[in-house]
This record gives sequence, C-alpha cells and structure tokens, in this order.
Amino acid sequence: MKDVASAPGGHTLDAILSAASDETRAALRTLGELVGNEPTMVLSPTQFAVRHLGVDQLDIASTKFTGPSTSLAVLGNLLRLEMERHAARVVVGSPGDGLPPTWSQLDVGPDEKVAVPGRLVAFFPGGTLAAEPLCVAIDDRHWQREFAILSSQTAKETAEKTLESFRARLKTHENPLRGRVLEACVNDGCVRISVSPSITSERGGLILPADVWQEVDVFLASATSRRDLLKSLGLGTNRGMLIAGPPGVGKTHLVRVIASELAGRYTTILADANAMRHTIADLYAESDTFGPTLVVLDDIDLVLGHRDSSGTNTSLADFLSTLDGVRQRDDILTIATTNDPKSLDPAAQRSNRFDMVIALPMPDATSRARILERHLGPLGLDLDLHALAELLEGATGADVKEVIRRAVLEHGDRFTQAQLVEIAESGRWQATVNRRKYL
Ligand SMILES: Nc1ncnc2c1ncn2[C@@H]1O[C@H](COP(=O)(O)OP(=O)(O)OP(=O)(O)O)[C@@H](O)[C@H]1O
Ligand SMILES: [Mg+2]
Repeated sequence: MKDVASAPGGHTLDAILSAASDETRAALRTLGELVGNEPTMVLSPTQFAVRHLGVDQLDIASTKFTGPSTSLAVLGNLLRLEMERHAARVVVGSPGDGLPPTWSQLDVGPDEKVAVPGRLVAFFPGGTLAAEPLCVAIDDRHWQREFAILSSQTAKETAEKTLESFRARLKTHENPLRGRVLEACVNDGCVRISVSPSITSERGGLILPADVWQEVDVFLASATSRRDLLKSLGLGTNRGMLIAGPPGVGKTHLVRVIASELAGRYTTILADANAMRHTIADLYAESDTFGPTLVVLDDIDLVLGHRDSSGTNTSLADFLSTLDGVRQRDDILTIATTNDPKSLDPAAQRSNRFDMVIALPMPDATSRARILERHLGPLGLDLDLHALAELLEGATGADVKEVIRRAVLEHGDRFTQAQLVEIAESGRWQATVNRRKYL
C-alpha cells in the first residue's frame, strides 16, 4: 500500500482516499463510520463534500444549474460517463435523508434506455474531473431539478468552468437526443421524452397543389437557406405555421414530410395532447438540450377552443403566451395542425402567433387520380383512374387510400375497373359498425 500520509495534497481525506486502493478506501470509510462519524447515507451532499473535500462547511462553494427535466437527465448521462471514466477513484454518496443514491432512466434510442444518476452526489478527486477535487450533486425531483458542483471557495472558478463544460457538451454528439425525433408526453405531471424511430416521408407520396408546396418552402427557408441571413439582420428565425384542413387531407403527412426534410439539422418534438395542454412551456424551455427544434402540435383542436365548465380556458392562454415568449428565441419552429380553423379562438390565428396559415384543400379530380396512380401504379392493372377519380367526388386523400385498401383486401393484386367501382360505390371501405350483426 502507498504511504497515505505523504500522499500529494497533504492530509485531507481527499488526498488519503485518492491515493489509496479501492479496498483500502472502502475499509477506511467503514472504519470512519464505525468510530463515530455519521453513516454516509445520513450526510447531506454538502456534508459529504465537507468530508471529502476536507474543508470547513463555510468554505464550501456551490455552483448550480437549475433546469428542466430533460436537460437534467442528459447532464446526468454525462455525469454517468465521467463516473465510469474515473470509476476507480470516484466515491458515490447518498442524496441525504438516509436514502441510497437513486438512478433514473433516459431514453437514448427507440428501444434503448440508459440508467442515469437521479439523486446522488459523487466525489471526484483532484486530477479526475478537474485538477482540483470537486463533488457533483444531482437532484432530479421536479421541485428541485438541480445539477450542482460543490468545491472549496478557492476552487470555485474551476467548478464554474467544469459546469460550463458540462453544459457545452449538451450541444455536441454526446447529447443523444439532439437531431432526433422525440415524443413528449406527460407522466406524473412531468414531461417525459422518448426517442421515436426516425420519420421518413417524401414529398412524392403527398399530392398537394403547387402553391401549398411554395408556402412550405418559404417556411423551411427560415430553418435552412435563409436562416443565417435572418439572424444577421436580427429578424429571428423562429416561426409558427398552422396547417388547416378537413380530416384526411394530409395534414399529418405534410408535417412528417417537413420533419424528414429537417432531420439531423433540427430536433423534432412530437407533443401529444397532454403535453400540449400542460407542459408546453417546459418543452420550449428545453432549448439547451435540443438545440434547433421543430415542435409539432398535431391536432391542436384537442387543446385549443376547449373550455372547461367555468367557461375559462387557461390552456389556451398559456399556449399563446408561451408562443409569444418563444418568438424571442431563434431556432424554434412550431407547426400546429387543425381540422377547423374557424373553431379556434381568433387570437390563435393572428399572424403574430403563427406566421403562416396553410389551408390544405380537398383534392380535386386530378389530385385524386394522382393519388390512385401512386398506389395502384405498381400493380400494372388496366384501369381508368380518371373515371374512378371522377366517381370519388368529395373524397379526401385518406378516403381514396381506403378504397384501394379495401380492393386489395378483397381481391389481392388483381382486380378490374368494375370491381373497384363497385367497392367505391358501396361505401364499405368506410369504417362503420356492422349494424345487422350487433345492433
Ligand atoms: N393529398 C394526399 N396525397 C397523398 N396521400 C394523402 C393525401 N391526403 C391524405 N393522404 C393519405 O391519407 C392518410 C391520412 O392522412 P393524414 O393523416 O395526413 O390526414 P390528416 O389531415 O392529418 O387527418 P386528421 O385531421 O384526421 O388528422 C395518410 O395515409 C395520407 O398519406
Ligand atoms: Mg392528422
């Protein structure tokens, strides 16, 4: 065993522990507890730091980051990496109150989770995380949400730099969420972020009028070709777009195309109705973690225009004030979809809320024929798609697809014009209850 008394750094517990072998450290700790010190589980993170840094409680400096839950979990993941990197020398302590260290889960892939520190404190001897000894304390309880570096007052500058470098790493490939497609939902009152499989949708699959695509291009320009120019002129890049249209005309499909075109460059967040209703502000607050972000609020009608029994609608007010606040920040694009723009509060449609409102029309006969061609073309059948498109007057893109699906289900990959016409006219491609059987 090394001569611990002459370890570099003097006689502080840090110096002794960092110079000793793993077994010696464990034995010394247990001995310390046995001879009268409180067990380490009872120590608060500050007391833990006092003990390991070898300084007086008054001499402890705390450099903190208080942030939203996902930022904290990603910081926790970086802390885990550092704990693994210096595993031989790190000492892990409890978050206090007699509790053991707790770990949480972070989604890093569609079916991939890692355990990240939730509530604990870790001591990094000098020469590991930084030249000077530091403790890192994390607490992910939703009323706390803190990532703190504890140091001696003299090492405060080092602690600040270390915290800065942790936060800077959020902007690098070490942040597994950046540039991904994420889903936000609400669980126990907190936003939970999970990673979805990437979205791949191409424009070719969606038949829309040319003027709609032109508007989409203008919207995308604020995130791509015109982004730097807008920024340099102080015009801001974040913009909201509202896509309106009846059910089944391709609104969700269009959002997917836009998300695909921004993949890698932007992190996409698909917010479900609960996330929209309760935690929209939290989502926008996570910009540190997500970088440039596309926030997708599909079917915004589920949240807006929905008044409670007292006639008030706080979620709408929250939503609009959040969007107003978000305008001040660059690099956040919001896309919302709605079935019925008229049912929305007029405030939601004002152009300072959403810069663009794109109305998706019902497909005309030519568009219906193109949708038919897209799905039936590969079968190489002898069909008059224009006649069929005329017959499907008033059908949406979703309806046209359903007619084809029904034909394939009933006849496989070979059917005639007459069979297709019969299905279209029968209406049995629509989802309806079979009344004769059940009612
Ligand atoms: N113009 C279109 N071109 C090609 N496919 C279309 C078109 N419109 C709709 N579809 C297809 O119909 C299906 C439903 O479309 P989508 O979910 O995008 O509709 P929506 O407008 O979001 O409807 P809802 O209001 O019910 O959410 C999708 O499979 C989509 O590909
Ligand atoms: Mg939709």
